Amino acid sequence: MNFNYSLSLLGFLSLMSISTSSWSSPAENTYKTVCAVCHAAGVAGAPKVGDKVKWAPLIKEGQVQLTAHGYVGVRGMPAKGGKPDLSVKDFAASLVYMVNLSGGNWQNPDDATLKKIDAEIVRRQAQLRK
Ligand code: HEC
Repeated sequence: MNFNYSLSLLGFLSLMSISTSSWSSPAENTYKTVCAVCHAAGVAGAPKVGDKVKWAPLIKEGQVQLTAHGYVGVRGMPAKGGKPDLSVKDFAASLVYMVNLSGGNWQNPDDATLKKIDAEIVRRQAQLRK
């Protein structure tokens, strides 16, 4: 490998690492700005991101249930992560981000799954009002 070539390769590689480290997905962004306050360190009993033992039973509940119940809120978990204008879709995406760092392998919900999540949110809210 000649000197010039390795220099330009180096430049290219450092550019790559800059662009990948400063680019964060919308889901990661929501996680960092809304959820991480509690879920990064496990504040107030929040399941900590990366704690596979804590997350395993939650992941088992399935994406529809867990997303809907988290969105509605449960005990110390505030509805919509405490951000009233957070959409179901954005909430779901940030949850996928957390789940996939915690032993799961979820995809962002497609339209059909989002519909099921919406329906479960309505069902859950009605149940809590009783
Ligand atoms: C103010 C702190 C706080 C914030 C902010 C927060 N959470 Fe939570 N979360 C909690 C706590 C505490 C629990 C545990 C609730 C329990 O089981 O008692 C929890 C539990 C959950 C659960 C499990 C719910 C269940 O059915 O057991 C999910 C899913 C979840 N959070 C997702 C999120 C997402 C996604 C965000 C960001 C959009 C978020 N949380 C933001 C505190 C928080």
